[in-house]
Amino acid sequence: MKIDYEKLRAEFKSPLYIYDFDDIKQRFLRLKEAFKARKSQLCYALKANSNLSLLKMLVNLDSGFDCVSINEVKRALRAGAKPYKIIFSGVAKTKDELKEALSLNILYINLESKAEMLCLEEVAKELNLKARISIRVNPNVDAKTHPYISTGLHENKFGVEINEAKAMYLYAKKSEFLEPVGVHFHIGSQLLDIKPIAEAATIVATLVKELKALDIELKFFDVGGGLGIDYEKAEEPNLYDYAQSILAALSGLDLTILLEPGRFLVARAGTLLCSVLYEKQTQYKRFVIVDAAMNDLLRPSLYNAYHKIELPYSKNLEPSKCDVVGGICESGDFFAKDRVLPKTKEGEIMLIKDAGAYGFSMSSNYNSRDKICELALENSKIRMIRKRQSFETQIQEEIEFLEE
Ligand code: LLP
Repeated sequence: MKIDYEKLRAEFKSPLYIYDFDDIKQRFLRLKEAFKARKSQLCYALKANSNLSLLKMLVNLDSGFDCVSINEVKRALRAGAKPYKIIFSGVAKTKDELKEALSLNILYINLESKAEMLCLEEVAKELNLKARISIRVNPNVDAKTHPYISTGLHENKFGVEINEAKAMYLYAKKSEFLEPVGVHFHIGSQLLDIKPIAEAATIVATLVKELKALDIELKFFDVGGGLGIDYEKAEEPNLYDYAQSILAALSGLDLTILLEPGRFLVARAGTLLCSVLYEKQTQYKRFVIVDAAMNDLLRPSLYNAYHKIELPYSKNLEPSKCDVVGGICESGDFFAKDRVLPKTKEGEIMLIKDAGAYGFSMSSNYNSRDKICELALENSKIRMIRKRQSFETQIQEEIEFLEE
């Protein structure tokens, strides 16, 4: 559907996020289809974008959810997810969070250290429950992505190494309050090369076989998320190759494959619409200053990430290099550096593409800017799925100390 951005801005103001829900649905179904040879469950990683309407739409597709805080678990439940389709991951789950997750009877908890396992065992004992667990293995495989989002090397804080995992499984099997049901790995995000995933899957499948010989039978093989998108080109990852690389590692094992996709499902579907405020030409550089900023989309500032930029109403006159920047008081506040763009007009609409993943979910109120509104496009209809924040709602949790 061709979107009338002028109309959207007139109604909902600038800046805003818009997500194409139909595209997300289609991606979900394609990914599911790629794994149809085996039992599989997609557990959307809601850290990528946790808007409740989006989660609800995924619940209707029978999605499960990968959560990394108890509030993410609550979001998934609020959207209607079944507890047995929710898993809980993360290196720093607190005792209270573990307690709540256990009481909610979710599918399993992904453990990331021995200390966390002992804490969970204690909590399960207090509640007189048996906690279903999976252990996140760090296979020491280089995911070849940005170092900030690479997670499967010994130097990273995530997971435990194979031998420690084995010892933890043996401990858990003997425990009255722990039940090992799965194994997990996630070597990083924005992976464009599938080989490291295949390598990790093979290493972890070997562990599963060794555990089987020790009479520890797992049910779930959780391959994490990480499938990337090409931010510079329209090319899409080959889902068949991705699935095959995992399925091949699992031959001879009867396990349900769990996937935790985030970015692949939602990144392409999201656009950050903003408006040009000013052009500023210095002796050295041209800046295009827009009304969105790094507090709305942090990825360029944090990872030097590339996002395509479009000017849908431009006449394409006088293109030249410029930096596209926001209004935050930091030089790191930019959406693009040295990008060739036509001359813009004040008020012109700009689209920052592929911003559906880790866009709004990483946004903040920095510089006391309000969080922006979110819209969904579904079945040719646009609806608002989050109101724009206001000054009043932004400060509502603060306690004002007034002088007597
Ligand atoms: N599972 C686990 C355990 C994860 O840590 C992550 C992402 C995912 C699944 C989902 O990964 P995905 O399929 O989205 O790659 N803010 C960064 C990405 C951080 C990813 C954190 N973990 C960015 O904007 O690129």
